[in-house]
Amino acid sequence: MSHVLVTGANGQLGSELVEALRSRHGPSGVIRLDLQPPPGPDGHAAGGPFVVADVRDREALADCISQYQIDTVYHLASLLSATGEQHPDRAWDVNMEGLKNVLDLACTHHLRVFWPSSIAVFGPSTPKADTPQKTVLDPTTMYGVTKRSGELLCRYYHRRYGLDVRSLRYPGLISHKTAPGGGTTDYAVDMYTSAANGRDYTCFLEPDACLPMMYMPDAIRATLSLMEAPAEALSVRDSYNVAAFSFSPQDLAAALQRHVSNFACTYASDERQQIADAWPASIDDTAARTDWNWTPTYDLDAMTEDMLDHLQEDERLREDEGVRG
Ligand code: NAD
Ligand code: SER
Repeated sequence: MSHVLVTGANGQLGSELVEALRSRHGPSGVIRLDLQPPPGPDGHAAGGPFVVADVRDREALADCISQYQIDTVYHLASLLSATGEQHPDRAWDVNMEGLKNVLDLACTHHLRVFWPSSIAVFGPSTPKADTPQKTVLDPTTMYGVTKRSGELLCRYYHRRYGLDVRSLRYPGLISHKTAPGGGTTDYAVDMYTSAANGRDYTCFLEPDACLPMMYMPDAIRATLSLMEAPAEALSVRDSYNVAAFSFSPQDLAAALQRHVSNFACTYASDERQQIADAWPASIDDTAARTDWNWTPTYDLDAMTEDMLDHLQEDERLREDEGVRG
């Protein structure tokens, strides 16, 4: 049976990718790894194997790969853009050392690898609209530097060692199950959560900061589609542009006000605005569409309805538990 390892499994993406992978590989076929056990009363034991380890620890990764007979790694563990600017040395260490460990072990143990890149590889000289697959890549953040360096490392390992490593440049990911961790696009999830809980929101980006975004179910589908595509179909071995839709904070506030009429958003931008300023407004993902038939299913309105349904239901459950408790 096939066994997959997900690093950064407790995170916004990892927690949902694990669920999707379990439906393919079974609960015991998906091994989660993170710095801390998952939150919740069952901790480690909930839903299959869990390894507490740091991806910078090559020996711990090697032990895990051998113990669980891993054949594919989804290497998600990373510091994101805003946290990376607060801790640039740590961002370099975790993002680069972790990836190098995974790629080297993948060569030794004959593993396949998925590793996410980001729109953070682009920079102020990159064309902002319909940013092409091949273009100027001049990241301004340590996070973006590690993502572009990681892309080049992945391509090198593919060319030099024949390693089957695949990658997507995700846009900002939006989801309701697990809170995001230290990104610039996280304002969108914060705004949804506030609106669903009847609170107003103060946004840390400016009202017109338009960025590419994607709803989590599409991000999971893109990931699995890329990993299931035949190797000979793939023309991009650094990282595929992948897109769904773009919006600004004021677009999102307006979409929310169509459902929550008394919701109000104010703006007090901080240092994260500078990060957003360097990123594209929209992405050309023709290569992904051509090579492995990528097409998104959610637009802003469909995502907004689904997000609000889930967040409002979660809030009702919390209130019920409060009444019972
Ligand atoms: P997240 O911050 O929610 O989760 C990252 C997880 O990695 C956390 O659970 C954290 O504990 C773990 N981690 C951090 N350092 C570690 C270490 N040294 N060893 C082991 N685990 C460690 O991030 P996410 O949003 O789930 O992102 C997952 C991946 O997707 C990252 O590589 C990120 O760069 C990429 N990505 C995310 C977005 C997005 O909008 N969320 C967009 C583009 C790319
Ligand atoms: N969404 C991520 C961030 O804002 C980009 O990779 O950091």
